[in-house]
Amino acid sequence: MRLAVVGATGAVGNVMLEQLRSRAFPADEIAVFASARSAGRELDGGLIVQELTEEAAGGFDLAIFSAGGSTSREWAPRFAQAGAVVVDNSSAWRMHDDVPLVVSEVNPDDLAWHDGIVANPNCSTMQLMVALKPLHDEAGIERLVVSTYQSVSGTGMKAIEELRRQARAVLDGEPWGEPRVYAHQIAFNVLPHAGSFAEGDDHSDEERKLMNETRKILGDPAIRVSATCVRVPVIFGHSEAVNVQTRHPLGPERARTLLSQAPGVTVLDDPASGVYPIATAAAGRDEVFVGRIRRDPSHDCALDLWVVSDNIRKGAATNAVQLAELLVARDLLHGRAGARAAQA
Ligand code: A2P
Repeated sequence: MRLAVVGATGAVGNVMLEQLRSRAFPADEIAVFASARSAGRELDGGLIVQELTEEAAGGFDLAIFSAGGSTSREWAPRFAQAGAVVVDNSSAWRMHDDVPLVVSEVNPDDLAWHDGIVANPNCSTMQLMVALKPLHDEAGIERLVVSTYQSVSGTGMKAIEELRRQARAVLDGEPWGEPRVYAHQIAFNVLPHAGSFAEGDDHSDEERKLMNETRKILGDPAIRVSATCVRVPVIFGHSEAVNVQTRHPLGPERARTLLSQAPGVTVLDDPASGVYPIATAAAGRDEVFVGRIRRDPSHDCALDLWVVSDNIRKGAATNAVQLAELLVARDLLHGRAGARAAQA
């Protein structure tokens, strides 16, 4: 089994490599790729970073990508054509009809219809789906109103550096110059702007992803979603305030029971004692934490929840590695290269 990790030097790629090692992924060989800037660099564990080239892209069984949309648009099809199944963490392929968009605990059976590329969902959508799937199965989701509090690591290494640099400068009373990554100062601030705004759209692309990906993953185009995505000065862990309106009544007690039995979910819900999910405690963990489960007093069929997870772990790297594990376990890797060669 030959595995490629593309974007191996990035915030997500780093953790992917760590997860592949700690989960003992059954690869005989791992090749690591990044931009030309990093070619030749040695990573922890002794792997040497390569630049993407046509010949280097051949001969893999599996490729996990986290190198941004444009790299995925260009290179994921090339790796797939050369016989690999690609698990792609960018948004480039997520909404394509022939690309399954999969959360390992939620819709793993969708992996079966891949045609060479499988998409890993957006980090905010990922944790939301893990928490909502058991409630959707029980009572049917009619409508969601979600506000996110997203950490800077979702934007990548440069954003982590920017928050640290600005925070240090603000505390020291030093000038910190112009913002480089975000539109405004992120240290000690809250920005109602995660992702970018396409011309003529009053929602950010991050908000559109949350709306569209939710419907695709849950396989229900009727679910209505309203989203406000907000960037906060947190390094790891996205938090979400979620209002869930169901088609059938669902009380908080039943929701708590369902969630405490759900795969990948840990319920932390004793608010008077200060027990609820928080980003600093979720950082470095793979679970999705849910708490503040309560009835929405303004609606008979609605609940409020607080959902937190490490956006780099379950929100990106962990789910990608879990999808790779499922592709192996379900024997969904082999035959593609052979089938294409036979067609040619
Ligand atoms: P590099 O470190 O050489 O720039 P992050 O999300 O933390 O910013 O990381 C993005 C990842 O994608 C990094 O590993 C980065 O490599 C990689 N990357 C960026 N542009 C390209 C490209 N054109 N080809 C291959 N990898 C790329």
